[in-house]
Amino acid sequence: MTDLNDPKIIVALDFSDARAAQEMVARLDPALCRVKVGKELFTAAGPALVENLVTRGFGVFLDLKFHDIPNTVASACKAAAQLGVWMMNVHASGGRAMMQAACEALNSAQAGGTRRPKLIAVTVLTSMGQSDLADIGMQGSPAEAVLRLAQLAQGAGLDGVVCSAQEAALLRGACGAGFNLVTPGIRPADGVQGDQKRVMTPRAAVDAGADYLVIGRPITQAADPVAMLQRIQREIAV
Ligand code: C5P
Repeated sequence: MTDLNDPKIIVALDFSDARAAQEMVARLDPALCRVKVGKELFTAAGPALVENLVTRGFGVFLDLKFHDIPNTVASACKAAAQLGVWMMNVHASGGRAMMQAACEALNSAQAGGTRRPKLIAVTVLTSMGQSDLADIGMQGSPAEAVLRLAQLAQGAGLDGVVCSAQEAALLRGACGAGFNLVTPGIRPADGVQGDQKRVMTPRAAVDAGADYLVIGRPITQAADPVAMLQRIQREIAV
C-alpha cells in the first residue's frame, strides 16, 4: 500500500501564516506525504508559498473549493495548474457546465505543456445536515445528495471527490475503481476527536475505499509529527 511515488497521506497545513507552515513542512518528507493548502493559508501566504512547496518536491492539494460561473472557475483552475499543484477542487453544486469548463481548462493547459492536476469535487460539506440541505432547497438525505453530486462530478469528467470516510464504500461501489476518494475526518484510534464528528481511523478509511487521507491536527499538533506520520504510514501499509 505504501507507494513512495504516490503517498496516501495529505497533511493539512492549517496555519495562519507562511512561517508556521514552513516550520512544519521542514520536518516533513515529500516521499512520505503530500500537503494541503486551504483558504486560510492561501489567503495569508499566497501563490508564492504554493510554488515554494512544489519546488521542494511536495505534491500540493490546493483546497480552494472554487464555485462560480463556468468561465471564472475555468480561469481560476488554469491559474492554479500553472502553480504546479497536484490536486485542486471545485464545488459539485456549481453544476455540470461549471465542472466541464474546469476540466476543459485543465486539458487545454496540459496541451500547452502544464502538468494536469487532479480535479476533484466537494459534494456536500460535512458540516451540513439534513435540515441545512432543506434550508437551501435540497431534498433527500445528505447521503443521497452526496451520491447524486459525486455521479454528476464523475459524468462531468472529474477525477474524484472529497468525502467522509463513512461515505467511501457507497461511492466506491457507485463510481467504481479509479475514481479518487479523498477523505478528511481521520483520527488514529487513540487520537483526540476535536471538532470532527464523524471520524474513522486511517486503516478503516483505507479499507472502506479511501485513496487519500487528509490529516491535519493528529499530525501537525503531535509532539513528534514525523513519528506520527510514520506510525500512520505503518497502519495503512498492508
Ligand atoms: O485537523 P483535521 O485532521 O481535522 O483537518 C482536516 C482538514 O480537512 C481540514 O483542513 C479541514 O478543513 C478539511 N476538511 C474537513 N472536512 C471536510 C472537508 C475538508 O475536515 N468535509
